[in-house]
Amino acid sequence: MLTDAQLRQLAQAALLARQNAWCPHSGFAVGAALLGEDGALYTGCNLENASYGATLCAERAALAAAVSAGCRHFAAIAIAGGRAGLPVTEFCPPCGICRQALAEFCGEDFPILLVREDDMRRCTLGELLPLAFHLNREESKHENV
Ligand code: THU
Repeated sequence: MLTDAQLRQLAQAALLARQNAWCPHSGFAVGAALLGEDGALYTGCNLENASYGATLCAERAALAAAVSAGCRHFAAIAIAGGRAGLPVTEFCPPCGICRQALAEFCGEDFPILLVREDDMRRCTLGELLPLAFHLNREESKHENV
């Protein structure tokens, strides 16, 4: 159960992480804040590349930071995105690849918080990615095979 204070903290962390976005090619800055079941906050920003396909989204950057630190169980993620240098005025739902990346570790009820400067909208991973693809989900349970 997430408290209003936790949701606000998560939203602020996503907006803050967004300030570090490296996005000279699109001019679109994204920040993500992932709350671990361990209570720790893992943040990420988008990291673009001159070879466009090498770009990493903010959500997967946050996921990589968390898993690299040993955290594989998550309570929620907040995402904020919009034109770099301007306040976030639109919701930025995660792209398809990031939805699939979250589904590797998070279930259908996993809360996804879409963040604007003046508002937030809560949805679930199941709503954004119904019928997600899984390989050996029961066997692996977030453990390496
Ligand atoms: N981007 C993200 O960071 N997350 C998403 O879910 C959607 C897109 C980034 C990638 C790229 O740097 C920029 O936004 C424009 O696509």
